[in-house]
Amino acid sequence: MYPNTRLRRTRQADWSRRLVRENALSVNDLIWSVVVSDTADPVEPVAAMPGVERLSLAALAKAAKEAQALGIPAMAIFPHIDPAKKDDAGSEALNADGLVPNAIRTIKDAAPDLGVICDVALDPFTTHGHDGILQGDRIANDETVERLIEQALVQADAGCDVVAPSDMMDGRIGAIREALEGEGHHDTMILSYAAKYASGFYGPYREAIGSAAALKGDKQTYQMDPSNRDECLREVELDIAEGADMVMVKPGLPYLDIVRALSDTFPVPVYAFQVSGEYAMIEAAAANGWIDGDRVMMESLLAFKRAGAAGVITYFARRAAMKLAG
Ligand code: PBG
Repeated sequence: MYPNTRLRRTRQADWSRRLVRENALSVNDLIWSVVVSDTADPVEPVAAMPGVERLSLAALAKAAKEAQALGIPAMAIFPHIDPAKKDDAGSEALNADGLVPNAIRTIKDAAPDLGVICDVALDPFTTHGHDGILQGDRIANDETVERLIEQALVQADAGCDVVAPSDMMDGRIGAIREALEGEGHHDTMILSYAAKYASGFYGPYREAIGSAAALKGDKQTYQMDPSNRDECLREVELDIAEGADMVMVKPGLPYLDIVRALSDTFPVPVYAFQVSGEYAMIEAAAANGWIDGDRVMMESLLAFKRAGAAGVITYFARRAAMKLAG
């Protein structure tokens, strides 16, 4: 009348819980997403993301040193561009002396062992806030890819280690790979935002980079429909065939099923992006005393590992690395 199998036996002590633990988060899993700005002096708060600041290049150098000291493998940088420098075509994205190339050089100077990842997309640079070139009310795919190639080359020339196309145009991975090879950037990696959904969770990010007010319409003609799962398998299959070294799922926590599907299906490192809205939700609830912020932060990061992710892009990276260091 008593159960032979009692799953509580192995849960009874710290030592036995540690012994049967299946997944663990390590500092090696963390990619720190940071926002840089050419107007911050030295930092500007982002209202919808308490604890996240837009960084000047000097503040970025300091953050990069900290990241390296903590053992965080890489930083992903997102630019807040002076509105005066934006135009319809996002021309500032191609400026070899622009904010992003300078941020790459700043990080490489301050923390040579830290990997640098850059978004390839036009939205921080366009007056209309879309990731590509607008023709009428459509984003022109192939014309946009031509610009993205140039943008990726500018980043690689500045020393970026990983270019991460987040625009969701068709064919851009192959086009960027070919251009990188052609210019001798054989070792520049491509992290494709392969499964990027048209999501409401990006709201605070658009405030952080200053594209929220500008954005006309939405991004449903290029980002994926949150209803779809099979379609992301096709996206990833194509991106791998076109030369992606790694792929990403975005947003993160509401899309753990997608992380699991991709990590089960493809022998390629799969990353998850714990996006701005996920960060904001945790911080807002913690600020109200409704949840334990640090505990939920660590639990949410561990969930990505359990789902099969090779790592997580997160605004929490520094805080999580400090906790892991004890
Ligand atoms: C767009 C881009 C987005 C994010 C990174 N690059 C969102 C968008 O489509 O507007 C979101 C990051 C976040 O929410 O933290 N190129």
